[in-house]
This record gives sequence, structure tokens and C-alpha cells, in this order.
Amino acid sequence: MSTSKFVHIAATIEKKIDNGEYQPNSKLPTHRLLADELGTTPATVAKAYKLLNDKGCVESFIGKGTFVRGHSELDQAIQAPEDDEHHYNFSLLQPCLSKNLPALKHAYRESADQLTNSLIGYTEYTGHESHRAAGVKWAQQYGLQGGNTSNTLLTNGAQHALSLLIDSLSQPGDTLLVDELTYPGILAIASMSGRQVVGVTLDEHGLCPHALTAAIDEHHPALVITIPRHQNPTGLSMPEWRKKAIAEVINQTHTWLIEDDIYGFLDEQTVAPIANFAPDYTFHISALSKAISPAMRCGYLKVPNGQVALLQAHIRANMWLSSPINFIAATQLIESGKAFNLAAEQRETAQERQKIARSILTAVTCHASGYHIWLPLPSQWQPDRFTLEAKNRGIIVTSGSYFCANGEQTPHVRLSLMAINSEQRLISGLQALQNLLTTDMNSFFPG
Ligand SMILES: Cc1ncc(COP(=O)(O)O)c(C=O)c1O
Repeated sequence: MSTSKFVHIAATIEKKIDNGEYQPNSKLPTHRLLADELGTTPATVAKAYKLLNDKGCVESFIGKGTFVRGHSELDQAIQAPEDDEHHYNFSLLQPCLSKNLPALKHAYRESADQLTNSLIGYTEYTGHESHRAAGVKWAQQYGLQGGNTSNTLLTNGAQHALSLLIDSLSQPGDTLLVDELTYPGILAIASMSGRQVVGVTLDEHGLCPHALTAAIDEHHPALVITIPRHQNPTGLSMPEWRKKAIAEVINQTHTWLIEDDIYGFLDEQTVAPIANFAPDYTFHISALSKAISPAMRCGYLKVPNGQVALLQAHIRANMWLSSPINFIAATQLIESGKAFNLAAEQRETAQERQKIARSILTAVTCHASGYHIWLPLPSQWQPDRFTLEAKNRGIIVTSGSYFCANGEQTPHVRLSLMAINSEQRLISGLQALQNLLTTDMNSFFPG
């Protein structure tokens, strides 16, 4: 076998990856197929693939084949500079932190006094029962039924729950159905773990049941992921009749559903989760990141009874258990009722800020009541260019291009209304944004 031949084949494939001919996560031809095509041996192709694997361009999975390695744009999608006098941060979807800080300090101080040998040692991997009981109570408050300390597991936030579930319920190369516009954290997990995503149509009530049925028939997905309330990024919330229709599709097709319900506490009037109507197939995620603090990393995962052992095994292999120290503070906040008060205050702040935003941004067309706005751009603006120009003015927004599961462009940006701490600064930031929206783009690119 000539050394230069496999190096040459690897270089040709790398070029095809770079120019997009081979897309991230797509499967490369088998050794034999490519060898026949190039008039060489499967062993030479295997060496080329090995070289590409060592360079980090592809990934091989036994019995599945070789795939172009995915990449994540999460660091660009979610930008976290401090909210300071030079930046208006409309990018981070987090609660108004200054409102929660005193309660959080108090809870952690009290937690220190509650530490015991049993709480600071290794414990069985589902975490302490009282911490799971608090998780049951949290999710129940926002409409989830059927949760108990056996089927509710502890995770390090919702992102961790999503990653564990995708790992547990699907294989590299499998297809995952997601909302056609969705949280970039979901796209990043799929991309980095070799799963294909297919976006399913959203209408004004959220995920569309007919489109879901058709996509299940066509793609035979390993699972479906949807964000049913205050959807990230569109702000859509499914009414109960729509959730029942989605549950019916899930029950009839025996498909796993991951219900990412992290914004459930923002409902003015609680609408039951999909999990209530399809409990045998739905994995329901809730977390304290959006209501209390993303730094707590406390997530609660309700699992269909038959799948508890599988998820426990994955949690054990993945991290043994989520840090009980954070869950002591979380449990203290939930059991004292303080967590629910903080969540209600954040909801009220979001509602007030939505009103302020609508009074300043003339382009707002949606009636979202959550933390963010899915802002349509005037026709002259392309979302990445708008995001860049806003950044030049110290306004950090998230381009719509990070949310598209099917890779299409959407003329939107997402604005979080909660990361800026003071209302006065929120108003000046929104005014600066409105100025940019109404500026003639040709003034930036004369001639
Ligand atoms: C829909 C959705 N799911 C999950 C997460 C991640 O949550 P956590 O910080 O609990 O991991 C986010 C954060 O923005 C989100 O918007």
C-alpha cells in the first residue's frame, strides 16, 4: 500500500467536508464502496478514515460507520458578557438575578448548617429522597401529575437531562425530531453526538400534530423533543387541546417524547404538560435555572416507570450523582415556599418587561409573555449582519440563524428581556435597538 495514496484520499475527503459537500454528521461511504469507486483497497480507505479520525474531522462507530464530526456554535449563540455600562445583554435567557440573590445567599447559608456526614458522602446515584421529593413538588406546582420519588431523578440542570436522554434513548446516526426552530443547546448535543435532526413544523399553537405524524412515518426517529411552553425561541405556548393531540400521536406511534418544560412556571394559568396525557412515553424535564438561578444546576427529570433503571444507569456512569450540596439549598427554597414566590416575581417582571418592549419596538408582532421576544427583522436586514451591527453598538442579541433545525435562514433575532438588571437600562437598550431597526442599512454599506 502506498503511503501517499491514503494521505491523498484523506485530503480529498477533508476538502469535501470543508466545502460542505459532506455535511456535519453525514455518513461517509463504506470502506468497500469508496475503495471500488477509487480503484483501491478497503484497507487503504480505512487508513484514510483513521487519519481523518486522528485529525478530529470524522468519528467512527462500531457497526454504524464513519460520520463527519459535528460542531457546536453554542458559544456564539449564547453570549455571556457581563451586563455593564458598555453592553446591553439581550442574549442570556436567565432570571433577573438581583431579585433572587438575597434569597439564594440565605438558602446556601442555611444549607451549610444542614450538612451531615450522610449529605457530604457518596450516596446512591439517584440522590437523596428528600431532594427528589422537592423536585416532585416543584414540577407538580406547574401541572405535572404522576411524579414520585421513584420516577423523578436529579440532574445538573436541563441541558444535562437533555444530553443524558439523547445518550440513553438513541444511537449515533439516529434521527431526532425537534421543533423546526429550537433551543441551540439541543442542536449542539445532536451535532456533537452524531445524531441527525429533522425540524417539524410549528404553527401558532406550537408543534403541529399532522406534521409530527408525517415526520414519524418518514424518518422513524429515535425520539421527539419539544419545548411546549414559552418556546425558545418563538415564545409559542401550546394550549391543552394541542398538547392532547401531540400526546395522541406519541401514544399511537409508541415514540419517545422529551418534553423540555423548563419555562412551565411562566404560565399565568397553568396548562398541564404533555406528560400527563402520554406518561408511558414522555420524559419530562423541569429545572430551577430559569426561575431561581442557572448557577444552581438543579434539574428534575420524570421518567416513564419502565425506563427508570436505564436512566439511573446512565446517571451513574455519567457522574454518579448530582451534587447534593446544591440540592440542599434547592430543597430548602422549595419546601419553604420561597422558590414559588421567586418564580412568581420573575413571571411578573417578565410580563412588565414584555409591555415595555412592545411600547418601544414597533416590529414586535408576537404576544409572548415569557422571558424573550422573537423579533422579526425589516426586510433589509439579514439576521447575522444585524447581530454584528448591534454588537458594534454594544447591543448583544442572538441571531435567528442559530435556532433553525433544518438549516434554513429566518429573518429574526431573539431578545432576552431579563438579563439586564435595571429597568432604566432595559429601556435605553431597547431604544438603541429600535434606532438600529429603523436605520437605513445602506448607510452602513454606502455605494
Ligand atoms: C429550552 C431550554 N432547555 C434547556 C435549557 C438549559 O437549561 P439549564 O441551564 O437548566 O441546563 C435552556 C436554556 O436556555 C432552554 O432555553
